[in-house]
Amino acid sequence: MSIYNETIKVTVNTLKQMKQNGQKIAMVTCYDYSSAKILDSTSIDAVLVGDSAANVMAGYETTLPITLDEMIIYAASVVRGCKRAMVVVDMPFGTYQGDAREASKNAVEIMKRTGAQAVKIEGGKEIEESYKAILATGIPIMAHLGLTPQSINKFGGYGLRAKEDAEAEILLQNALLAEKLGCFSVVLEKIPTQLAEKVTQSLQIPTIGIGAGNVCDGQVLVFQDVLGINEGFKPKFLRKYSNIAEQIRTAINNYSKDVKSGDFPNAQEQY
Ligand code: KIV
Repeated sequence: MSIYNETIKVTVNTLKQMKQNGQKIAMVTCYDYSSAKILDSTSIDAVLVGDSAANVMAGYETTLPITLDEMIIYAASVVRGCKRAMVVVDMPFGTYQGDAREASKNAVEIMKRTGAQAVKIEGGKEIEESYKAILATGIPIMAHLGLTPQSINKFGGYGLRAKEDAEAEILLQNALLAEKLGCFSVVLEKIPTQLAEKVTQSLQIPTIGIGAGNVCDGQVLVFQDVLGINEGFKPKFLRKYSNIAEQIRTAINNYSKDVKSGDFPNAQEQY
């Protein structure tokens, strides 16, 4: 087992420095304390408490139903487990898009009640005022462009975004705007690699890709997907590093068998 030795807390500055040094940033999602503790003992740089919790933790079809309070419970648990890795929290659907004052109030609520280091929000120019209001409170923002799952009903599906020149140009302009406003990083989800490369080269701040090729400054994947817990999800961009679902099934079947046969607990396992 490899335990990452670095004990210094990862911050926005670490990630910016990593881009300057040409070091890739590794990020993964997490939603609970026990997993966060394990992640914190690896070489992962940052942990995202994604609103993908709506899918993988709560079983919803989309990310839209998850609430601010639910995200705060997940995020506070993750923060308690991460002494070293940076923790970024997704602001859920409806908490930052409409009204900039509401957006900053909700971002402050997340930071106060979780102890996280930054928030992530989906969108560009159309939510410029929310970006400004949140950044004005001193809260760092990771912007999210390309396939933004909170807009799924506008897109009508989870397909590749920005294939056409017009959408690609808007995405590039939104990434430049995010940097100009003061965001510390930009997630690029499910866009052509060539566009991700252009965006990455145009920005001083790091890009974190998911389905955006190896040209980004870092990568992010969902915990349950990387580990093979979310068995049915098999997009082209995903590499599975384990088959935990099968291991859980084997272990729990063995436990169940031992309980039913009377083998567990044995003499050494009782008082
Ligand atoms: O919610 C999430 O997990 C995300 C990542 C996939 C980028 O936004």
